[in-house]
Amino acid sequence: MARFIDELKRTHDCNAVRVDDIDNEVVLFGWVARRRDHGSLIFVDLRDREGCTQIVFDPEVNKEAHAQAEALRPEWVIGIRGKVRSRGEQFSKKHDKMVSAANPNMDTGEVEIAIEEITVFNQAKTPAFEIEDKIDTKEDVRLQYRFLDLRRKPLQDALKTRHKLNHATRNYLTDQGCLEIETPFLVKYTPGGARNFLVPSRSGAGKFYALAESPQLFKQLFMVAGYERYFQIVRCFRDEDLRVDRQPEFTQIDIELSFVNQDDIFTLVEGLIFKIWKAALDIDLTELFPDGKFPRMKFDDSMRDYGNDKPDTRFEMKHFDITEMVTEHDGGGIPFFAPIAEKFKSGAYRKDLPEEIVKAMVIPASAGFSRADGNNLEKYAKGMGAGGLARAKLAPDGSWVQSPLSKSVTDKFRTALNEHLGAKEGDIIIFQFGKTSMVHTVMANLRVHVAKKMGLIPETGHDNKWNFLWVVEPPLFEYDDDHKTWAAAHHAFTRPHDESLKLLEKDPGKVLCYRYDIVLNGFEIGGGSIRLHNRDVQKRVFQTLGIGEEEAQEKFGFLLSGLEHGAPPHGGIALGMDRIAMLLAGSDSIRDVIAFPKTQKGTDLMTNAPGTVSPEQLAELNIRSIQES
Ligand code: AMO
Repeated sequence: MARFIDELKRTHDCNAVRVDDIDNEVVLFGWVARRRDHGSLIFVDLRDREGCTQIVFDPEVNKEAHAQAEALRPEWVIGIRGKVRSRGEQFSKKHDKMVSAANPNMDTGEVEIAIEEITVFNQAKTPAFEIEDKIDTKEDVRLQYRFLDLRRKPLQDALKTRHKLNHATRNYLTDQGCLEIETPFLVKYTPGGARNFLVPSRSGAGKFYALAESPQLFKQLFMVAGYERYFQIVRCFRDEDLRVDRQPEFTQIDIELSFVNQDDIFTLVEGLIFKIWKAALDIDLTELFPDGKFPRMKFDDSMRDYGNDKPDTRFEMKHFDITEMVTEHDGGGIPFFAPIAEKFKSGAYRKDLPEEIVKAMVIPASAGFSRADGNNLEKYAKGMGAGGLARAKLAPDGSWVQSPLSKSVTDKFRTALNEHLGAKEGDIIIFQFGKTSMVHTVMANLRVHVAKKMGLIPETGHDNKWNFLWVVEPPLFEYDDDHKTWAAAHHAFTRPHDESLKLLEKDPGKVLCYRYDIVLNGFEIGGGSIRLHNRDVQKRVFQTLGIGEEEAQEKFGFLLSGLEHGAPPHGGIALGMDRIAMLLAGSDSIRDVIAFPKTQKGTDLMTNAPGTVSPEQLAELNIRSIQES
């Protein structure tokens, strides 16, 4: 029988031993983090997931153990038995006096363990990188050896944060009367929403399952089935282009409630967020939100002021939509603006749903932006598909300098615009014009980019500012330019505002709905809606979307059937758990809070997924690859 583990049980983790344990015998297990050979004494930092403890091999305590310690190398797995002693004072040759040997940077820094017995459970190869908090190893290498990366404290902390988040969520939602019920991952493909991963069916030749992009339709059926309050911490799968806050498989805190309105959902989620922040960061959000409520912003206002529906409200620097002003001034002498003004004047464009717009933003003089900075900004804008970045600096008299616009702009327009924007000497005005969605996106990204350069928000990590925000009242439909049809902006089962019902056929673009997003510091951390449970309105929505009865049955048959069998009023939300964990952990990438993430290209560098399979496997699935091997 092996002595360690079978006989000697672990008494403490590597972050638990303190001065109160002095003179006690302890047994620890862990990994060799560092070994320092001081001749007569050998010091080792022993690490486990909780922290580090210094152990010391002293030949006067145990000769044999000391001899064994000479062979120890980083990342070997060992077990030790020894006596806790104070690090006390030691004579420093350098200082020529007794100095404290305690290490204030370690939680266990006041003690060490004099080893009486050691066992080596396993040796280890030299790791591809050091297991230290801060390393500059390329992410590719870290992902390839993810099991080593996960040994590092920042990742361990991130996964602990995830655990706390999960734990607090389960407790809170259970207390709120929600039942945790699972839904299938292998589902029928339904169009709309994110692109699905498909899974071939072996028994149903030529048929495919889809991996669920969310439990949406199933959770609605739970409401039909009378479960009233549901939640699930659930994996979702989406074959999307990846970004810092997007993974192909990610986790949602998914919630659906019956007999509720939008306010009820908000109250439940606000309560949940308060609990999560307390559990994960020990932060009491009531100091920031005394009434327990997060502010709300209308979707249209968010688009106007920030260019997207997930504004970072930690800083101002709002956009100005100057389309109307440009129209009034017939383009104000600026050649790019003139055709847009003309389209509005001739009635080719609607004012309330403009196809093209002009936006401006003021970078304050205090930012100290140079010409070169301006050029870099333009490069950044072009990288997003913008044609360029028109800009002008204000001279003391309000005239525009460092700008090709200065030659042609009319005095009247310039003066009016400077005043409208509140621009002063040294400020730089930047402009975007053209297709509405493009202008919004480019300006939204520029706003955040400039704010980072100005230090208004940190380039990385968090600044302990928690600007939660509900973005509400978005349109139900958006125009699909490619197919020249109206499409559901979210999904076809969102309830329109009652006041909007009259516009369903007449003016679909103006129909507002009970959809909402919750935003934190510029990240969408959740979204949901009150669902449409009225069959007549549902039919009218389908008509606007150009979906006939037959097509509706084919696409959503089981949900429609469910809704016809006694559907209560219901609504819900899904929170992006990984994104919340990322923000709590102050990470720059969602990959840092997922144990085994995929790269930006969707590959797993550790397992090499996705991989090829044999022709026999494909044949079994009735599939032939058209990819030349
Ligand atoms: P939605 O599609 O808005 O809503 O998703 C909800 C939240 O999930 C997070 N999220 C992601 N996180 C990481 N990687 C991704 N690829 C990814 N995609 C989404 C976001 C987002 O806000 N069924 C509806 C919810 C509902 O209506 O109840 C849904 O899935 O934080």
